[in-house]
Amino acid sequence: MMQIGTVAYGTTLYDELVALRYEVLRKPLGLFFTDEQLASEKNYIHFGAYDGEELVGTLQLVPEAHGRMKMRQVAVDPSRQGEGIGALMVEAAEAFARDKDFIIMHCHARASAAHFYERLGYQKTGDMFEEVTIPHWAMEKHL
Ligand SMILES: CC(C)(COP(=O)(O)OP(=O)(O)OC[C@H]1O[C@@H](n2cnc3c(N)ncnc32)[C@H](O)[C@@H]1OP(=O)(O)O)[C@@H](O)C(=O)NCCC(=O)NCCS
Repeated sequence: MMQIGTVAYGTTLYDELVALRYEVLRKPLGLFFTDEQLASEKNYIHFGAYDGEELVGTLQLVPEAHGRMKMRQVAVDPSRQGEGIGALMVEAAEAFARDKDFIIMHCHARASAAHFYERLGYQKTGDMFEEVTIPHWAMEKHL
């Protein structure tokens, strides 16, 4: 059974989330997480998706001003993509944010994943731009 929950920063479980998103999001681009980048995540909310004991997906939330929540680092284990895990994680993150009275969820979506977010009700809010060397769209959804 799939379970999605929050993971505390700095724990062994957190290290596993970092390892998964390094494999899925950074390594293919030849990029790394710096110590400074990881230190800046201290106050973010970290989610893990577990199939039994096995970590299969992760994402982060960053609370911002004006009722806005930023979703980032959305990654599903490559051998488990296309099974609905990403959609379940985004829905769990939205429920978490809604419960805390946030009104907008937004993200910088990789152009290759923009359709994934559109299927979940997100809309592009500006022009395409480059981040971590690849094209992205700013996207958001009212919660
Ligand atoms: C993008 C990602 C998070 C989606 O998670 P997933 O578990 O594979 O997606 P799901 O199975 O929940 O898919 C939900 C819907 O989005 C669609 N979808 C998923 N990934 C897609 C993609 N890259 N492009 C287009 N559509 C996609 C699915 O077809 C599905 O549509 P359906 O409901 O009509 O069948 C995952 O594939 C991933 O980690 N990709 C590599 C890293 C990445 O790009 N992360 C996003 C950074 S912004």
